[in-house]
Amino acid sequence: MSQTATFVQVGQRDKCLDSWQDKPAAQAVGYEDTDLLQQVCDTLKHLPPLVSPEEIETARHQFYDVAVGKAFIVQAGDCAESFLDVRYDIIRRKVELLHEQARILEAAFNKPVIRVGRIAGQYAKPRSNPLETLPSGEVVHAFRGHIINSENENDRAPDATRLLSGYFHAAVSHNTIRHLPTPTIYTSHEALHLPYEASLSREDYNLSATTVWLGERTRQLDGAHVEYARGLRNPIGVKVGPTATAEEIVAILDVLSPDRVPAGKVTLITRLGHKRVRAVLPALIRAVQLSGHVPVWMSDPCHGNIWTTPDGHKTRRVSDMLHELKETYAVHRELGSHLGGIHLEQTGDAVTECLDEVHVTDAGDLAEGYTSLCDPRLSVDQALDVVRDFAGFVRGYKREV
Ligand code: PEP
Ligand code: CO
Repeated sequence: MSQTATFVQVGQRDKCLDSWQDKPAAQAVGYEDTDLLQQVCDTLKHLPPLVSPEEIETARHQFYDVAVGKAFIVQAGDCAESFLDVRYDIIRRKVELLHEQARILEAAFNKPVIRVGRIAGQYAKPRSNPLETLPSGEVVHAFRGHIINSENENDRAPDATRLLSGYFHAAVSHNTIRHLPTPTIYTSHEALHLPYEASLSREDYNLSATTVWLGERTRQLDGAHVEYARGLRNPIGVKVGPTATAEEIVAILDVLSPDRVPAGKVTLITRLGHKRVRAVLPALIRAVQLSGHVPVWMSDPCHGNIWTTPDGHKTRRVSDMLHELKETYAVHRELGSHLGGIHLEQTGDAVTECLDEVHVTDAGDLAEGYTSLCDPRLSVDQALDVVRDFAGFVRGYKREV
């Protein structure tokens, strides 16, 4: 009996890994040479995994601790990693920053803090428009991340060999992180480009990162990304933007974690914009509470607070980000829920991409050190300021109640 049950389950799992191909995939990439894409995927399928199932199981159990309030997560890193940043010093600075933030949060929450980098594979980006019109009037593919094409306007055709390059850059980054003498850093990226993700998945696990997330643009209930993630045992993040409905979020939880199994699988990452937290979040929390699901709730105060300066720099204000973080924390406390983590775009260097009241005060200063391939990242100082300020708020909040 149990033999048969196991056999049936394995059959279903295998099917699940391919069944996403029958569903509409938002943000899919059109390659001219589809034979080459197939060859590259076949190669990836035989390359060694970057993380082990055991590590993923351990991480998911720890995420469950977060879901029930016993731990906290800091997940942070680049919006889009660059292949050119796969350098020892750059990786080390990013990792040190994460550890420093975790230490600050550990003291504030008085709980273990799990460290998760947007690192070692965050190479694919969703775009609101797949094409871009250059000042010359020429229309080219938009930049989709180093695993798809180059940011260079003359080299935008999607090239499938970049998937192999992405794998090797991710492998070197994993190797570097593992050899830094520090507590565990888990790796994560958006599971956006399914040919890559599926090629690095074996049975129940995506072995390209500890945890992956579904973006705001690819979390359709009947879409390929949810179908793909359904069969995984990795912790799976789901971005939740301001238009998400309570029914939709509960339905996603039901699909990704039917009967709430496996525990710790889903992290809801709200990114509502600082002005919309109070209007949107309470209904989502109440519906999830009523559903009986126990997800991790995380706040991404980055993606709902972006605006573009007159000279074309995408930016965000640290004050808006802090406002979203604090409102989110407070709403959870008020409803007997708890915020389990924060999700930030940042880098270990002194970039000038976000605005604050001390380091980069004027939109005119952004050009000086703006090197992001995509969204604006907090500089190392700003990233520490955000976490310190939030930690102070949490401490104060605890004293009031
Ligand atoms: C991101 O995390 O870089 C991103 C694109 O987020 P979202 O899907 O929430 O817009
Ligand atoms: Co981003």
